[in-house]
Amino acid sequence: MEPLNELIARHYTRGDLGAALLAALGERAALPPAALMELLGAVDEFHVGGRAATIALAEDLALQPGQNVLDIGCGLGGTARLLATRHGVRVTGIDLTAEYVDVGNSLNARLGLSGQIDLVCGSALTLPFAARSFDAATMLHVGMNIADKVALFVQIASMLKPGGQIAIYDIMRTGGGALTFPLPWAGDASLSFVAAPLDYRRALTKAGFVVRGQINERERACAFFAEMAARAGPAPALGLGMLMGAEAAQKLAHIRTQIEAGLLAPIQILANIP
Ligand SMILES: C[S@@+](CC[C@H](N)C(=O)[O-])C[C@H]1O[C@@H](n2cnc3c(N)ncnc32)[C@H](O)[C@@H]1O
Repeated sequence: MEPLNELIARHYTRGDLGAALLAALGERAALPPAALMELLGAVDEFHVGGRAATIALAEDLALQPGQNVLDIGCGLGGTARLLATRHGVRVTGIDLTAEYVDVGNSLNARLGLSGQIDLVCGSALTLPFAARSFDAATMLHVGMNIADKVALFVQIASMLKPGGQIAIYDIMRTGGGALTFPLPWAGDASLSFVAAPLDYRRALTKAGFVVRGQINERERACAFFAEMAARAGPAPALGLGMLMGAEAAQKLAHIRTQIEAGLLAPIQILANIP
């Protein structure tokens, strides 16, 4: 693996995530699939707005049952499971972090979804799939770790059938000023490649996409963090804190203040291949 990718994978790797997840679930690990999936939403949707944000993004794609979807930077596979169960699509996910892929695939097996979802370890910049084999691609909170957005979107474009769509939901630059680290995707600036919406749109266009729309989800983000802060008591055992290690509280505080201050915002962009 490229040195930078190794550092990114190391940033996300906890080492004991599978065991920690089972311990946090306890007896609830044996719940029926729908109830277990509901619980997992607290940890397997590693982006601002959680599952509600994924549901909203998926609605905009208007997916048809049986279609093939590629989830870039799939993490633990929460987005893949939501798309597969709610929209009846087949999902292939790819992620640099082997631990996420392994835990995600074992969750899929536990939920009876292995036939519909395949998560593989690899880089979004060297996609190992057949050209023009996907109807749609999703990418949630991943581009902040990828410097060369044109190369990224050229790779994704080559995977999509004519008319194929991409839905992006990333943290983007909406204001000036230095960023304060650590943030959930990077301990310091060396792993962080946050870009402005205009940079994304230009990179998409260069890669052959037609941009159909852009939505700033700042309000959703502010409500999400306010709700998180309003929950009394210590952080829940089953929650995003599990993924962010010892600096979890600092990472969450930093992203919240920088979104509230307008330096950063979660932005959704929809585009398609003509
Ligand atoms: C903040 S997490 C989001 C995970 C998932 N999309 C979600 O919303 O739950 C970012 C993910 O992007 C992955 N990632 C970062 N750079 C990548 C790359 N070049 N190729 C594939 N995955 C990458 C990381 O390993 C990590 O799992």
